[in-house]
Amino acid sequence: MLSAQVWAQDGAALYKQRCASCHEGGVARAPQADALKQMSPENVAFALKSGSMALQAFGLTQAEIRAVSEFVTGKTMAKDSFPKTAYCADGGPSLDQSLTKPRWNGWGVDAGNHRFQPAAMAQLSAADVPRLRLKWAFGIPGVVQAYAQPAVVGGRVFVGGQERHVYSLNASTGCVYWAVEVDFPVRAAITIGQQGDRWVAYFADQHANAYALDAMTGTILWKTRVNEHPLAMTTGAPTLFEGRLYVGASSSEEIAGASTDYSCCRFRGSVMAIEAATGKTIWQTFTIPEEPKPTKKNAKGVQLYGPSGAGVWSSPTVDAAKRMLYITTGDSYSDPPARTSDAYMALDLSTGKIVWSRQMTEGDAFTVACANPAAAAACPESKGPDFDFGSSPILVNLPNGKRSLVAGQKSGVVSAVDPDQQGEVLWQERIGHGSALGGIQWGSAADNDKVYAALSDIGFGPPAAGAPPGRPQLDPRSGGGLFAINLATGKRVWATPHPGCGDRPGCSPAQSAAVTAIPGAVFSGSVDGHLRAYATSDGKIIWDVDTIREYQTVNGVKGNGGAIDGPGPVVVAGMVYVNSGYGFFGGAPGNVLLAFSVDGK
Ligand code: HEC
Repeated sequence: MLSAQVWAQDGAALYKQRCASCHEGGVARAPQADALKQMSPENVAFALKSGSMALQAFGLTQAEIRAVSEFVTGKTMAKDSFPKTAYCADGGPSLDQSLTKPRWNGWGVDAGNHRFQPAAMAQLSAADVPRLRLKWAFGIPGVVQAYAQPAVVGGRVFVGGQERHVYSLNASTGCVYWAVEVDFPVRAAITIGQQGDRWVAYFADQHANAYALDAMTGTILWKTRVNEHPLAMTTGAPTLFEGRLYVGASSSEEIAGASTDYSCCRFRGSVMAIEAATGKTIWQTFTIPEEPKPTKKNAKGVQLYGPSGAGVWSSPTVDAAKRMLYITTGDSYSDPPARTSDAYMALDLSTGKIVWSRQMTEGDAFTVACANPAAAAACPESKGPDFDFGSSPILVNLPNGKRSLVAGQKSGVVSAVDPDQQGEVLWQERIGHGSALGGIQWGSAADNDKVYAALSDIGFGPPAAGAPPGRPQLDPRSGGGLFAINLATGKRVWATPHPGCGDRPGCSPAQSAAVTAIPGAVFSGSVDGHLRAYATSDGKIIWDVDTIREYQTVNGVKGNGGAIDGPGPVVVAGMVYVNSGYGFFGGAPGNVLLAFSVDGK
């Protein structure tokens, strides 16, 4: 199911092209064909991915590695590591009519990215939230970050993983329909759509590839690179609308740029519109219109480039009425800072033309060097504060008949701009001090009258005794809190501080995960591993579960909960699904997808 017919790659041809010159006697030390035959395909694949042959296999996809490993050993690789009992007894019901039934499809649940699940879809009342108990846990194999938001459509869960797999599970039991290997880790949420009779799962990976898979079987239908920069990645879920997929791209060049040996920086954020049926590009728009040009040389004589950056970290928002696509952008990486970084932007839905942009933080050119005194020479002159937007803009209808776009930023400020007046600022409300990993990180939720924003403002202290070098300790006293803001006025309605980590070492109260609302209740996960629900009326905590523990998983993989960060929980048909185990930045790692229901029934 995984490889051959999909990629049309041929192990024999690859071997001839990439391996034979050394392994057929050309290089004395290279094991000969019969020696390779005695190896297991898994061991050959390991040598190619991360062992002694990694350089020789550079650029091969996962599927090509699998094909050549199977060819040289003459054996088939195990499908995956689950016991038979982990698989569902049948292929499951068809997805027909699934887009009219309870579902959480994609990132923000609706085209406006509200992250608000209406009562008919949630089928969970605020009064029942305190009775939520664990129903099942799914263990993602061999992974230390559980960081992808699940989609739930037609009674199936679709979720990606850091170990380069995408899974389809039964939503009420967690049994596995299929597990498919793709080229790179998948963190972006999945969207289900229909092409003729076929149901299709769309997503993108951490190397900026967008994919379409047959949602029933997992067969890969097409794959399209959405940004050609070698360090490009896609974290924000693709948005599907009227037969087109809109996919953003960000990058890790900000990290590469921390070295004075690196020619920083040439990545530009982008959005690509793709024909959902074929994977063909319709348009691509860069968030920075001008191409990066050589600027100056650094003290080591390395050529620098700019402007660069303004990655798109979040899922684009569709305005069907005005035929517009709204995005938010991240910081600039090099001098001169772009005018479109840390900004709201509006693109014409059909052509991708930039209609307007509204910058919220000026002059923010930053690389990771700026946060490290030892690497200060690689920090751009403008030395920005790293105040990306990581949150999708929420398109809101106001009681006065006007509309606004609302989003939180790493600056610690939630803002509202007018999409019908070129992004004119309507209000700004500061809820925290902001920082590179602070402020508002991954997304807020909005109901009819309030927006709910969670605060990271994560803090770091000195390294713990005996900690590996360079690993700072999380500060248990810094960060966290959930804030409700009136959508019309921008005035704060309530603020609920984090209830506290105590003195537990390695704990942080930061709430950087995206927020999710249903009528009467709002859910917010924390780096402390807890998922909490708050009353929307006054912010009182009505439910609190600590996910940091071991789990007996339904698929037989050893399960551990950890920090909750990145994506938010999703609520569908009386159940709440959340990933636990986001171990970047010192939080507890983990590998579980958890499903809660009323009384665990
Ligand atoms: C430039 C020459 C060269 C090319 C090209 C090459 N290899 Fe190798 N390979 C070697 C040498 C030399 C060794 C022995 C390495 C050692 O002893 O450290 C080796 C070792 C291996 C091993 C054993 C590794 C281990 O850890 O035991 C495998 C498996 C292998 N190669 C597979 C491949 C495959 C498959 C390809 C094609 C994708 C390939 N090699 C391409 C030269 C090459």
